[in-house]
Amino acid sequence: MSQTELYAVEIRGEAGTRRSGRKRPDGIATTNVVLSASIGDNASVFRDILRLFVPEGSTVADVTWGKGAFWKFVSDNLYTVLPSDLKTGVDCRNLPYDDASIDALVLDPPYMEGLFRREIGHMAGSGSHAAFREHYSDGKATDHDVGAPKYHDAVVDLYLKAGQEARRVLRNYGVFIVKCQDEVSANTQRLTHVELINAWAKDFYCKDLFVVVRPNKPGIVRLLTQEHARKNHSYFLVLIKRDQEYPKRIRPPKGRKVKTETGVNPS
Ligand SMILES: C[S@@+](CC[C@H](N)C(=O)[O-])C[C@H]1O[C@@H](n2cnc3c(N)ncnc32)[C@H](O)[C@@H]1O
Repeated sequence: MSQTELYAVEIRGEAGTRRSGRKRPDGIATTNVVLSASIGDNASVFRDILRLFVPEGSTVADVTWGKGAFWKFVSDNLYTVLPSDLKTGVDCRNLPYDDASIDALVLDPPYMEGLFRREIGHMAGSGSHAAFREHYSDGKATDHDVGAPKYHDAVVDLYLKAGQEARRVLRNYGVFIVKCQDEVSANTQRLTHVELINAWAKDFYCKDLFVVVRPNKPGIVRLLTQEHARKNHSYFLVLIKRDQEYPKRIRPPKGRKVKTETGVNPS
């Protein structure tokens, strides 16, 4: 039985095969469901997202692999995983995959403007926070070409360009999993998740959104007056690539196999 089927059985608390449909009179009342918000780490939320949205056997490209921490609770050999990162020489804005060849793509680039600075000394995460900087970025300063977006706009620019590339390599109805966090930049509230969802609306349907709340209590350095809530949450967005022939459809018509460059998708 597949991981997804096992999950369905777990939820129903009985043995048997999975039936179609979301709810039935003979279903059970249960609190054993995936929730939209949780306190804890990314890895357990990521496991649940895969379980809900990405069928076993799928080809999943994690294009900002970092240390692969998202995958801590995902069993080996459920998926064909393609890890890459700028640190390994692959830019998420220029992926070495064919058009429509990928079933799901994971994107978690540096999420805050403090990681996009011209000089290393000005980047977020100095001194005892060096491990943070090392983990959340490629640890290098950013060259700003004349006219290129800066600060928060540089953050969004990287997401959007990576999103264009995701749109190219994902098959129709493929799953685009994006980790992001809002930020206050230049004393202005920037709701990154809203900016991304809106910017991608034509190409991707935002099927779900998960809020991850930090278990510890973050502080603020050099505080005089607090003007905005200190953020202690981040998001996973789950987006579905639209078929541009049928842009309003959010899932393939029943029974229709979705063609990829390499074959037929496993869902
Ligand atoms: C937040 S970390 C990713 C953490 C990762 N999800 C994990 O589970 O360990 C951001 C990663 O994005 C990478 N990165 C930054 N710019 C990139 C780019 N243009 N293309 C690909 N990776 C990039 C960094 O090297 C860093 O490893």
